[in-house]
Amino acid sequence: MRRPILNSPIPGPNAARMIAEQERQLSPSSTRDYPLVVDSGDGCWITDVDGNQFLDFCAGIAVCTTGHCHPHVVRAITEQSQKLIHMSGTDFYYGPQGELAQKLEDHVHLTGGQRAFFTNSGTETIEAAIKLARYATRRPHLIAFDGAFHGRSLGALSLTNSKVVQRRGFGPLLPEVSHIPYPGRAGVSLEDTFSELEKLFKRRVDPSQVAAIFVEPIQGEGGYLIPPPSFLPRLRQVCDQHGILLVADEVQSGMGRTGKFCAMEHWHVEPDIYCLAKGIASGLPLGAMVARANLMQWPPGSHGSTFGGNPVACAAGVATIELLESGLLEHTAVMGEVLLQALREVMSGTPLITEVRGLGLMAAIDLPDNATRNILLHDCFHHGLIALGAGERSIRLCPPLIVNEEEIHLATEILQESLMEIGQRPSQAA
Ligand SMILES: Cc1ncc(COP(=O)(O)O)c(C=O)c1O
Repeated sequence: MRRPILNSPIPGPNAARMIAEQERQLSPSSTRDYPLVVDSGDGCWITDVDGNQFLDFCAGIAVCTTGHCHPHVVRAITEQSQKLIHMSGTDFYYGPQGELAQKLEDHVHLTGGQRAFFTNSGTETIEAAIKLARYATRRPHLIAFDGAFHGRSLGALSLTNSKVVQRRGFGPLLPEVSHIPYPGRAGVSLEDTFSELEKLFKRRVDPSQVAAIFVEPIQGEGGYLIPPPSFLPRLRQVCDQHGILLVADEVQSGMGRTGKFCAMEHWHVEPDIYCLAKGIASGLPLGAMVARANLMQWPPGSHGSTFGGNPVACAAGVATIELLESGLLEHTAVMGEVLLQALREVMSGTPLITEVRGLGLMAAIDLPDNATRNILLHDCFHHGLIALGAGERSIRLCPPLIVNEEEIHLATEILQESLMEIGQRPSQAA
């Protein structure tokens, strides 16, 4: 069985030199949790520039759906790039945009028909949805949730309500945005959410002025929070009552990650607009806003993008969906159960994990506090497991969907070893 290969020290000499150079060359706004300089990836494994090999349970932040460099995706990219790399879908027609739109139609169902608009990222997809929601309803106001992350361009950032550093110094942001509590966050009940919404409608914003409510069906950066079962159906009802559009931000939870094509399917709720990105093209930059056809009635020139729906990215998107269709979606649901079970077993042996949750391969564990979470992430890295934090004190586990049982058990073994070491340190012993 393949195991991590770690030559100490980490970072090794090549990584240390490149990190020093890049700290001078690149914007300091990026958050680098580890001194990891990646050279190559295959499947669920990555190799750094000093030959260290890590098991990847982060997948480029839930992007490498089909694993690093899946041969089917690589073939699609190679073949497309030998034919046509760019033409600009805003001004011209070409095949791959239509092929991907068709594939999305096969899996993302919106009653009455749908249309797709392709972008290059999650934030651009949210930006497009903000514009379409306002345009289609001719209403100004937008509602999002506490703890939400919808991106960093100024429109999307106005909906984001995750960390103050993401907003500080960038104002004024969009006016006409309100936030309400997300049920599933500590101490927030379903009733809290809907009574805050009611209060908002009574005191500050006439619901007839609200264009859309943006919701992550599972709050991603906020901590992989899964809401109570009646949350999304009830939100849909409120939207219907007031003619408000429901926008599902499935940038992180979509493209099979939860064992269904879109996470909204778990609650049998249809939004008016789906926002997809991250995993849609297994790593090539691509996003898609999929909206009801009767909403997407904006005239030529009202929205566009030079690179959005690039032929190579779309070909990678088609290849990604072909893999989901040929068993990967079912595999994700099964591996999700294996992962949850393995995490519960780890939890049963330590007081340091306070909760395990997940849907499909979108799983998280909670630690007692932010400091313990960060120590654990660091220790896992030095044992050869790549994972990322989410929220204040959670670790998210979002491996490539091709992950197998052996890799899941290896990941939880590393987690367990790291937790034991933390438990043995005097300051962290529970
Ligand atoms: C739910 C959600 N929406 C939007 C975004 C923004 O996506 P991007 O970083 O591609 O702009 C993210 C990114 O993490 C996300 O998790």
